[in-house]
Amino acid sequence: MKAGSHDAPEFHPQTVLRDWGNGSGFRIADAQTGVCVFGATGSGKTSGPAKHLAYGYLAAGFGGLVLCAKKEERRQWEQWAAETGRLGDLVIIDGEGKWRFNFLEWEASRPEAGGGLTINIVSILDEIAGAIAHSAGSSDGGQGDNKFWDDALHHMNTNLVDLPVFAGLRVSLPLMRSIINSAPQNLEQLDDSKWQETSACAAILREADSATLKASADIRADFEECRNYWLQEYPVLSEKTRSIINLSFSMLVRPLITRPLRTLFSTDTNITPEDTFEGKIIIVDLPVQEYRLAGRIANLAWKYCFQVAVLRRTPPAGRTSFLRPVFLWADEAQNFVTNFDAEYQAVARSAAGCTVFLTQNRESYRRVLGNTDAVDSLLGNLQAKFFCQNSGETNEWAAKLLGERWTKITSTNAGQSRNEGAQTPGDGSNSAGVARSDQRRFFVEPSFFTTLKRGGPLHNNQVEAIVYNGGHLFTGGSETLPYRLITFNQS
Ligand SMILES: Nc1ncnc2c1ncn2[C@@H]1O[C@H](COP(=O)(O)OP(=O)(O)O)[C@@H](O)[C@H]1O
Ligand SMILES: [Mg+2]
Repeated sequence: MKAGSHDAPEFHPQTVLRDWGNGSGFRIADAQTGVCVFGATGSGKTSGPAKHLAYGYLAAGFGGLVLCAKKEERRQWEQWAAETGRLGDLVIIDGEGKWRFNFLEWEASRPEAGGGLTINIVSILDEIAGAIAHSAGSSDGGQGDNKFWDDALHHMNTNLVDLPVFAGLRVSLPLMRSIINSAPQNLEQLDDSKWQETSACAAILREADSATLKASADIRADFEECRNYWLQEYPVLSEKTRSIINLSFSMLVRPLITRPLRTLFSTDTNITPEDTFEGKIIIVDLPVQEYRLAGRIANLAWKYCFQVAVLRRTPPAGRTSFLRPVFLWADEAQNFVTNFDAEYQAVARSAAGCTVFLTQNRESYRRVLGNTDAVDSLLGNLQAKFFCQNSGETNEWAAKLLGERWTKITSTNAGQSRNEGAQTPGDGSNSAGVARSDQRRFFVEPSFFTTLKRGGPLHNNQVEAIVYNGGHLFTGGSETLPYRLITFNQS
């Protein structure tokens, strides 16, 4: 089932990935504007819409990155890939260490990186550290406080990467750690000959000094900034500040330079995000459920590097060929979302990046992203929305999103007879008759989402979801509506 086997060029945006009948369906262009799936636990998100889309993406030849929250995800993708003829493209990143990605060297080896190297490496570290800190800390309030620590850590990381760069050394996490561990703890230490002789930080400062002595005035000034940080700012940080930023740094780096991640991220490289552009499907089988913090760090490192790689992708010249779409897939996505995702997906479309995020409800994103604006921004950039059976606030939001219409409500009012519901118009007098009124009603009432089929034997292995695709109109029967109810067979 190779895509583009007809007359359209391969990966043409209008290629239908899933045909839903009645002239509607899901196309590559829809995949590229992003997907989010909502539903209660056990509502059929994974076995319904996710499986349905995954088969479409795999059969069409997409590459991709799959983040793993649960242990069973690897097995599930192996099965999905087998059934779509894609087993050969699977790359399983696991504790065995067959596939390795040293992201610092990957970043440093880009010929275009040039002077942006420090910024890019620090961005990777910031992104992972930020995600860890925010999920560990308080979800509401505390934003201002977070910002101070984020900035302090960012500032240290910048100087931590800059220093070996100025010295002409290869940036590595162990080297960065040894700089911190040997940095001066107070101003007196600077004059201590023992510190001068044994400190890695002092030695690298000397190397960087002589390496930049004859450099351009710009570079020399930048080095002096960096030296000031280590010799003047860092030693006088308050004990509390210093210990918190050092702890944040250790929490981030230690998992990456110890087992099981050390081999995967801090040795050599035999797989990179760019391999997905050739059709590889990379599964980060270090599930959060089992590996906890190390699992999150591994998944976040892969996620951010993949996103950056997609954004750097250059479109093919001319209109006759199209980039191979690549998906970023996260089931239980609350484990992995960051503020960068909205920014990423807004631009990823033109680089054929296709995000698919599944989670229970809006609240699960709000807890991680901290506020409703950030959630709205993320969801605004994931245009296609699948709503499975659910309860709570997400149902109200979904109902509003699908919209309202004017409906003629006809009520009969016969004397003192039983009232037909609450919307009986009129003045409630005893006069019999028929009343007609126009009322605004949701296309789909919030309560309807509680009734959708959840799969399993009880529902004949059927999962129902309401699909909304950024206002796209679906024609079915006599009506044209901005949504559609789709039934997925689990088996
Ligand atoms: N292939 C399948 N065939 C039949 N039932 C299934 C299958 N996969 C999952 N189920 C059942 O369907 C329900 C929905 O499962 P699942 O898709 O995992 O929900 P969610 O991802 O929303 O938590 C569960 O009760 C589950 O046991
Ligand atoms: Mg699931």
